[in-house]
Amino acid sequence: MSYDDLNPSGAANPRHIAIIMDGNGRWAQQRFMPRAFGHQAGVKAVRKIVEYCAQQKVEVLTLFAFSSENWRRPEDEVSMLMGLFLATLQSEINKLDRNNIRLRFIGNRSQFSESLQKKMAEGEAQTQGNDALTLVIAANYGGRWDMCQAFQQVLDKMAAGRLPRQNITEQLVNQHLSTTDIPEPDLFIRTGGEQRVSNFMLWQLAYTEMYFTPTLWPDFDEQSLETAITSFKGRQRRFGHTGEQILNKLVTL
Ligand code: IPE
Ligand code: IPE
Ligand code: MG
Repeated sequence: MSYDDLNPSGAANPRHIAIIMDGNGRWAQQRFMPRAFGHQAGVKAVRKIVEYCAQQKVEVLTLFAFSSENWRRPEDEVSMLMGLFLATLQSEINKLDRNNIRLRFIGNRSQFSESLQKKMAEGEAQTQGNDALTLVIAANYGGRWDMCQAFQQVLDKMAAGRLPRQNITEQLVNQHLSTTDIPEPDLFIRTGGEQRVSNFMLWQLAYTEMYFTPTLWPDFDEQSLETAITSFKGRQRRFGHTGEQILNKLVTL
């Protein structure tokens, strides 16, 4: 008997999983190690989860790597994170490419160093034709930033007379967000025990299923992700309909 037989109204597999990878610092502190050690361990967890998602044929995996607010951290931690980001891209891009993974970045990259921006652009260009997993890295990303940059584009088009006011629909807003052409996240996961969104994909999470776990990011493995996906699959997504409408397949979602 499949899981679907047990729970006919359960959700299908998530197409897009979006993760706030939190808890690296505490993981290191528990080991009496500097926070940097936790971030390095976090990269190893990223590798495992990316591989697993590719194997499981997840379409999109978004990882929140650095928020627009993370610049507020001590300078040495920020520069350590920038160095780790660049080194990780240098060592991983070819591997991602070989595995047919498409790499993409969202966030305001103009604040990054030129060498980092260059590597990001190279990684995207090199992998753009790949069609297994799309790996989206949110770097210097904020949900509010995303909406502001969308407003700017929309207002520029209006000012140029290319966009009548009544054309501003949800679909049009979607098209101007950094996630344009990426399906909305089905499953949101935050590790590290905090139950907040911390300015991640504010618009895109409107109907995403939320999953919070106390597991610290470096300890989050394939089994932990499987548990999150099982929780997701046991839920009935209603999108405003009644449970009966979903159960009796009276509506198509
Ligand atoms: C998440 O782990 C990684 C980044 C924000 C870059 P943290 O560094 O926030 O770890 P904690 O929350 O302090 O344990
Ligand atoms: C969110 O984690 C950002 C990332 C994981 C990249 P934080 O650790 O920065 O979030 P807050 O500050 O606790 O809300
Ligand atoms: Mg944190």
